[in-house]
Amino acid sequence: MIFLIVLGDRLKILVSGGAGYVGSVVIPELVKDGHYVKCLDRFFFGNEYLSSEQFQGKVELIRDDIRWFDPKILESVDIVLDLAALSNDPVGELDPNKTFDINHLGRARVARLSKNAGVKRYILASSASVYGQQSGAVDEKSPVNPLTAYSKANRMAEVDNIPLNDDNFVVTVMRFSSIYGLSPRMRFDLAVNSMALELYKTGKIVVRGKSNTRPFLHIKDAARAYLLFINAPKEKIGGEIFNIGSDEQNYQMDRLSREVAESIGKKYEIEVKDTKDHRSYIASFKKVKERIGFTTKHTVKDGSIEIFKALESGNLVDSTKTITVEWYKHLQSIYKTANEVSLRDTIL
Ligand SMILES: NC(=O)c1ccc[n+]([C@@H]2O[C@H](COP(=O)([O-])OP(=O)(O)OC[C@H]3O[C@@H](n4cnc5c(N)ncnc54)[C@H](O)[C@@H]3O)[C@@H](O)[C@H]2O)c1
Repeated sequence: MIFLIVLGDRLKILVSGGAGYVGSVVIPELVKDGHYVKCLDRFFFGNEYLSSEQFQGKVELIRDDIRWFDPKILESVDIVLDLAALSNDPVGELDPNKTFDINHLGRARVARLSKNAGVKRYILASSASVYGQQSGAVDEKSPVNPLTAYSKANRMAEVDNIPLNDDNFVVTVMRFSSIYGLSPRMRFDLAVNSMALELYKTGKIVVRGKSNTRPFLHIKDAARAYLLFINAPKEKIGGEIFNIGSDEQNYQMDRLSREVAESIGKKYEIEVKDTKDHRSYIASFKKVKERIGFTTKHTVKDGSIEIFKALESGNLVDSTKTITVEWYKHLQSIYKTANEVSLRDTIL
C-alpha cells in the first residue's frame, strides 16, 4: 500500500532578516500556521529565541548575508518575506553606501534570485517613510519623497522589484507604518516603545518634533498582515504596493506622547524638543482594507501597557542592543579594536 503525505497548505517560507524585531514575531505565527521557515539573517542581534526547542525542526537558521548568500537555499522555497535591512534612518546614515548595498541592491538580489529559483511569491518590507514630508494625506498613488539613505534605498528596492511581478512570480510591497509593541528582539528606538521606556524610567516623555504626523502599527497587526498577504489571491496583490496600518493610528507626535502616557495612567510630564527628523505625512490605508480586508486589532494603548508591564516585571530591560544604531556602532568598534590587537587570527 502506498501512503501519500499530504502537506496541505504547508509552505516553505524563507524570511530574510527573520531574527529581527519584526521577523521574530512573524516567524512564530508562520510556524503556528503549520509552515516551515528558513530564516536567513546575519544575526546581528542574536538568534537565541528562534533556536529554542519549540522551533526545532520547524525553523532552519541560516547565518548569511543577503548580498552574497548561496542561491541554493532558495530551492523548493514557496514564498520569500524580505525583511533584512539596516532598519532605520540613523543606521542608514552610518554608512549610506552600505545602506544602498544592503537595503537596495541586496534586496533586489533576493527578489531576482527568488524568481530564478521558482519561488512563487515575494513580499518586500518597505516603509511608509518613503513619503517623507508631505502636507496632505498620501496613498499608494501619491508621489514619494524619500528624505534619507534608508528611505531612498527602500524606494529603489520597490522600483527594481515590482516589475519582476508576473503570473508565476507574485511581487508585493508592504509599506509599513512605524511599528510598536513587544518582540523577543526588542527595539527601544521606535517612537511608542521609547516613549513607554522614558515614562517608566523618568516619568517624563521628550517629544521631538511635536507637530510631525506619522502612522503607527502594532507588531501583532504587522504579523497578521503578513499572514493575509501569504494567503491572498494573487490577482489582488500581484505587482501592488500597500500601505500597512490604519487611518485611526495616524498620530501627531505630541498626541502620541499623551496617548502613551495616559494609557499607563500615572503622573507624567511632556517636554518638547526640536528634531532634524522632518518625516511628516498622513497615510491612507483604504487600499489594504478594501483589497484584502486588513484592519488593525491593537492600539497604541495596548502596546504601551504591554511594554510598561514587561518593564515593571523585570522581564524586559533596555540595553545598547535595543537601540539599533548604538548596537551597530558597538559592533563596528569592537571589530576595529579586535583587528588592532589580534595577530595570527587570535587575540591571546
Ligand atoms: N520596525 C519598524 O517600525 C519598521 C517600519 C517600516 C519598515 N520596517 C522594515 O521591516 C524590516 C524589519 O525591520 P525590523 O524592525 O525587524 O529591523 P531589525 O533591525 O530588528 O531587523 C533586521 C534584521 O536584518 C538582519 N540583517 C541586517 N543586514 C543584513 C544582511 N546584509 N544580510 C542578512 N541579514 C541582515 C539583522 O541581523 C536583523 O536581524 C526592515 O526591512 C525595515 O526597514 C520596519
